[in-house]
Amino acid sequence: MKETVTAALYAPSADFVRRAHVKGLDEWRVLFERAQNDPEGFWGELADKELYWFEKWSKVLDWSNPPFAKWFAGAKTNISYNCLDRHLDGPRKNKAAIIWEGEPGDQRILTYQDLHRFVCRFANVLKSRGFKAGDRAVIYMPMIPEAAIAMLACARLGIVHSVVFAGFSSEALKARIQDLEAGLVITADGGWRRGKEVKLKLTADEALAECPTVRDVIVYRRTGSEIPMMDGRDYWWHELDDTVGDHCPAEALDSEHPLYVLYTSGTTGKPKGILHTTGGYLLQCTMTMKWVFDIREEDAYWCSADIGWVTGHSYIVYGPLSIGATSVMYEGAPDTPRFDRWWRIIEKYRINVFYTSPTAIRALIRQGDHWPNEHDLSSLRLLGSVGEPINPAAWEWYHRVIGKGRCPIVDTWWQTETGSIMIAPMPGAVPLKPGSGTLPLPGIAADIVDMRGQPVAADREGFLVIRQPWPSMLRTIWGDPGRFKEQYWTRYPGVYFTGDAARRDADGYFWILGRVDDVMNVSGHRLSTMEIESALVRHPKVAEAAVVGKPHEITGQAVCCFVTLKKGDHDIDSLAQELRQWVAHEIGGFARPEEIRFTDTLPKTRSGKIMRRLLREIVTSHSVTGDVTTLEDLGVITKLAAQQEEE
Ligand code: WT7
Repeated sequence: MKETVTAALYAPSADFVRRAHVKGLDEWRVLFERAQNDPEGFWGELADKELYWFEKWSKVLDWSNPPFAKWFAGAKTNISYNCLDRHLDGPRKNKAAIIWEGEPGDQRILTYQDLHRFVCRFANVLKSRGFKAGDRAVIYMPMIPEAAIAMLACARLGIVHSVVFAGFSSEALKARIQDLEAGLVITADGGWRRGKEVKLKLTADEALAECPTVRDVIVYRRTGSEIPMMDGRDYWWHELDDTVGDHCPAEALDSEHPLYVLYTSGTTGKPKGILHTTGGYLLQCTMTMKWVFDIREEDAYWCSADIGWVTGHSYIVYGPLSIGATSVMYEGAPDTPRFDRWWRIIEKYRINVFYTSPTAIRALIRQGDHWPNEHDLSSLRLLGSVGEPINPAAWEWYHRVIGKGRCPIVDTWWQTETGSIMIAPMPGAVPLKPGSGTLPLPGIAADIVDMRGQPVAADREGFLVIRQPWPSMLRTIWGDPGRFKEQYWTRYPGVYFTGDAARRDADGYFWILGRVDDVMNVSGHRLSTMEIESALVRHPKVAEAAVVGKPHEITGQAVCCFVTLKKGDHDIDSLAQELRQWVAHEIGGFARPEEIRFTDTLPKTRSGKIMRRLLREIVTSHSVTGDVTTLEDLGVITKLAAQQEEE
């Protein structure tokens, strides 16, 4: 609370304002009010001006069947055309579209013309293998340009892609392929991470054993290591590439044609396949590149996210390429070979705009200021943050040590579901307060409400909601429209429920407080307590499990599991190790629990629901103060709390 009142305001410098896309609060207000008074007119005008359409729409927004929105209904466009072809007529033809650096230090620069040619060739490969609009392709790739090429080639033909983060296990990959009934998997032999090869093809093979819908597996050769290829199913990318030509027109697709499905964790054990479509998604990605990242033609822009998360989709590939920017992409870990790898990259490519996560910032703070201080970071003009609330201390360090007090920081709030940034400062207009995403963008009707859906007063906590549809909103959950309605649109009918708690201060600035559901945020990635619990109870020795997020200095939250065991003799220490490994195997290394705690029973309500709130309190405050009268066994909680005391 206090932070809100005392938060320092950082206004942009006159020099920054002078060159910004949106200059000063007055210009911001004009945009904001125009969007508020006439949202359809506002978005329609931007769509007209900022994107290429084969055919125009009959209606900007069709909201006649909520919550199923249609943006630019009846229009025809193509995202790959907008990201590539339209840049080839002018000076961007030979501009770098992607500057890529591999972890071992190899480097590639793809101009817009190169990227266009590679995408056309790969689209021709897909065509030659019989894939067409509406088919689903799963992309399981390292951070190499071919990941973006595969995405854009799918988009060119209307093939729905689903990128699965390379850190996911074969089990998680299998579940996604099966849910999508994908006909194609695009992968690589491996990728480099901390000097080791991540063997993607081998992991994919494990998943593919139980994926009968997959006809083809296309494998890009990245590491050159020996891998098995299955006759009649697996094909080398470079061999197929030899058989096709450079020419492949972009299909004129409906504005609502599905672009991709990206899985994210929800409150049940089953991940949700978030569906994004074409015209509206691209428009908001495009606008936020200008409004929030304030990109100029000559900029080198670097988003350090992985392409497997939504940030990589919207802000490494689609947003930057749509506006004709240079997008920098790095394959590996920030600490390889040393802790200055990122600062080296910024110095080497003279990065102007840099976008990363609070977890990464905190991890780098810990390594000491000498790492960034050894490098010339003077090219930086603007810094960004995403994924979780940024604590003021990390904000100040980022501002002072990386930005040298010169660069505004755009703290961007959004979600896999929102498709692009929703709440963030326009850096040439909105003064900053460390830790706040500041104000909603034009056309975004964000509000904070109480249990009954009434707006709360300034400085009061409530639920963050969005009152009106926005162009890059999710359209449904793949294969489960009922869950889509129930999860997001039922608590307050007609209003989008974000699952986040927030408050707004007297200046109207938004402060995000975190999730209100059983979803954890670990290193800026969403993890479901239920998903980890389901993984744990699949282990033969586990009877029950309850998982909560525990505050963590670096990653924001860490996974903490309370586990009860089936009868038998157990070696607790080795079993804890085994269970951590088990979760990594079931979901992926990034979900590996920080802590496994064994207990005789779990605290439950009389109806048998596990009281995660109490467990959360135990790991957070080391004591229990909440209402415990509904507990089945009061002794349990006391015992657990006592155990905490002893540690
Ligand atoms: C959840 C969405 C958006 C891409 C990365 C995460 C949290 C995200 C912020 C921010 C405070 C944030 C929210 C949100 N979150 N950005 N700037 N400040 N919290 O995408 O996995 O879909 O997670 O991340 O809790 O609901 P995601």
